[in-house]
Amino acid sequence: MAAKILSIVGARPQFIKLAAMHRALASCPALQHQIVHTGQHYDPNLSDQFFGEFALPQPDFALQVGSESHNQQIGQMVQKLDTVLATAKPDLVLIYGDTNSTAAGAVAAKKRHLRLAHIEAGLREFNRSVPEEINKIIADSLADIHFAPTATAVDNLAREGHTDSVVHCGDLSLDLLFAAQPMPACTAAATHLMATGPYVLLTCHRAANTDDRSRLAAILAAVRESPYRVIWPMHPRMRLALQRWSMAADSTGEHITVVDPLPFWDTQHLIRLAHGTLTDSGGIIKESYFHQVPAIVIDDQTEWVEVVQEGWAHIAGADTTRILSCLSGLERPLQHGQSLGDGRAGIRIVEKIESLLT
Ligand code: UD1
Repeated sequence: MAAKILSIVGARPQFIKLAAMHRALASCPALQHQIVHTGQHYDPNLSDQFFGEFALPQPDFALQVGSESHNQQIGQMVQKLDTVLATAKPDLVLIYGDTNSTAAGAVAAKKRHLRLAHIEAGLREFNRSVPEEINKIIADSLADIHFAPTATAVDNLAREGHTDSVVHCGDLSLDLLFAAQPMPACTAAATHLMATGPYVLLTCHRAANTDDRSRLAAILAAVRESPYRVIWPMHPRMRLALQRWSMAADSTGEHITVVDPLPFWDTQHLIRLAHGTLTDSGGIIKESYFHQVPAIVIDDQTEWVEVVQEGWAHIAGADTTRILSCLSGLERPLQHGQSLGDGRAGIRIVEKIESLLT
């Protein structure tokens, strides 16, 4: 009988990693894959859109938890996951990244004494005021197997006493990009966005930026003065923040083009042809590196330290002057390494799981 793997996901970046993992698991008949969607992201353009784009099967379990305070959200997820885990009885639970769904999955699985593997283990921002940092620490301290994307992640795990459980597999989310060269075509809407001259792609959704009026104002000031046109797919959290603080992106719509969150492949095309990206998203930092496009990080730190060390990402914080100076000096470094892996993370993860369970 096939061993049962249960993936717990809930937020946009996890659907991307899930797509890569689902594809890798499909190549192994000895492993049966089931999916739980916690419901952390529920807007179609943050959730269904990705299931459609990656031809993922509908989740076997949909918890529909929705948006709450972090403790309420995680609490509800743990409660509902407990019932799922009792029914599904998986041989291994897979959790991904660092969202509230990751932390809830870790707690629920280990309270049921199930074997737990964390994909994207070992990343640290060394700042416990970041909600994702708490989720990373919970996931790694409870996981039995750590799939680490980078050498720095392996070192971080070793410092916390995890060595034998660690597999340095490379970054799973980039598997999709390595496998799709050339990439699937983008939509007419994305083609239209890219057509009108040099631009930077902006994404901003981290709590440290959206929930702090002065940081947000400093970022907006830089964006308005950007020497390049700005294309801004706006996360719902940012829309709410702008309303709450009575701020506006830009009323003219000429210099700053705000659009709804975009499909995965449209985003990749927009990154590939951008002069640079301006972002607080770890996913966009990695994808910019993949496409050899420089990223300006509007955060005080990033866990993707290799990308910064190689000169492909620049930490600018929420500082108007620093952001503008990075924007005006944007250049592609001469060197580009393979510090985020080689597109075979999913295969390495499956090999490890197979060796443990079959
Ligand atoms: C979450 C993750 C973050 C990840 C991001 C990707 C945590 C702590 N954060 O942040 O690591 O990078 O997803 O997008 O888990 N909302 C909607 N529609 C939705 C989902 C959310 O409108 O489908 C709004 C709600 O007002 C909600 C807010 O966005 O309160 C924030 O959503 P939440 O899931 O808490 O965190 P994200 O900012 O999306």
